Amino acid sequence: MASSRKELNGHRQEKNQMSKINVAIVGVGNVTKTLIRGLEFYQNSTEGLWHPKLAGFTVNDISVSGVYDVDSSKVGKKIKDMVTDYKINSDLSVQAGILDDPINVPNGQLKSIQYNEFVDSLKKIKPDFLVNLISSGMDKSSESYAKAALEVGCSFLNATSSKTITPELRSSFESKGAMILGDDLMSQFGGTAFHRGMMELLINRGITIRKAYQLDVGGNADTQNTMAEQLREKKRKIKTESISIEVPYQFRSTAGTTEYAEQLGNSRVSYYWIEAKGFLGAPLEMDLSLRTNDSSNGCNVILDSIRAAKFAISKNDLAKSEIISAYAFKNPPKKTKIRESIKAFEETFANSANY
Ligand SMILES: NC(=O)c1ccc[n+]([C@@H]2O[C@H](COP(=O)([O-])OP(=O)(O)OC[C@H]3O[C@@H](n4cnc5c(N)ncnc54)[C@H](O)[C@@H]3O)[C@@H](O)[C@H]2O)c1
Repeated sequence: MASSRKELNGHRQEKNQMSKINVAIVGVGNVTKTLIRGLEFYQNSTEGLWHPKLAGFTVNDISVSGVYDVDSSKVGKKIKDMVTDYKINSDLSVQAGILDDPINVPNGQLKSIQYNEFVDSLKKIKPDFLVNLISSGMDKSSESYAKAALEVGCSFLNATSSKTITPELRSSFESKGAMILGDDLMSQFGGTAFHRGMMELLINRGITIRKAYQLDVGGNADTQNTMAEQLREKKRKIKTESISIEVPYQFRSTAGTTEYAEQLGNSRVSYYWIEAKGFLGAPLEMDLSLRTNDSSNGCNVILDSIRAAKFAISKNDLAKSEIISAYAFKNPPKKTKIRESIKAFEETFANSANY
């Protein structure tokens, strides 16, 4: 017991001495490639960053030291050779990850390693965070990655819709001086955030919402995966519940991905319809659409979460994971209204005199 505590303290000290925030990522798809491109681009610019400096860190303080996938056409390849439309300098190669669920990849060939091999690999790179960006619906694999992160004492950030956080797991991470953040990333200005913002404005202006829907159509691999009926239902439930937080009464509402249209590529279009009423029941109806770039839309939120969490961990203030998860995820342990969650996050990590 004493020696494991000593080991843990040694590990923490070693981590704290490093100036950078060291990150490993599982799943090398659209978001990971965009994130790595962003980390290079933002060495010389801040344009497009939500929080150029957060919790004392700039984006330059984050570095990626390991990336893992199970698609054999990606494993062994350098990231820079996988991206053709822009130049990547990183020399990182994709390593094989854990595969505990069935999956379809374009060439049908898979390459994976055993859980213990993955843990050994993480131990070598000693990341502060393991970021889960694997395909939607890989529940068992996501669980194994969370377990592996816990075993090596690094924090875990789950961008996928798989349910990874439980109160028990959260305590286990905290007992190792680490955090688990999630679940299901809420894009910076995606379908859900925009929908919640509109609901909040209507409620604050005294309008009664009667019925609403949000239909998302996308053209990337993640949308294609989401078409599987069970997964689509699960994601619809998360989105619909996330939006309902803004409204203090029941109303008819549905929000979810309805179609995969390859021609949209990496963009996503959300179609909204809202029926509401005002003074004397005067009708108010909205038909709107929002088109966004899916992978870019996730990156600011990931970079913010990592920096905020690193800061809170360095202060041993692990309960702050609730504020970070409420800000960055659609299905966090503690759900708060969108405006409150941004305010709490910024007051804690961006505006405080501590930084
Ligand atoms: N704005 C956003 O893009 C956004 C928002 C919310 C949630 N997410 C979630 O983030 C995740 C990544 O999104 P994406 O668009 O990059 O997806 P993607 O489909 O482009 O990439 C997923 C990658 O994960 C790999 N993978 C699958 N199982 C794996 C395993 N067990 N181990 C390692 N790699 C595995 C796949 O081979 C693929 O390369 C998805 O789960 C998505 O739902 C993204």
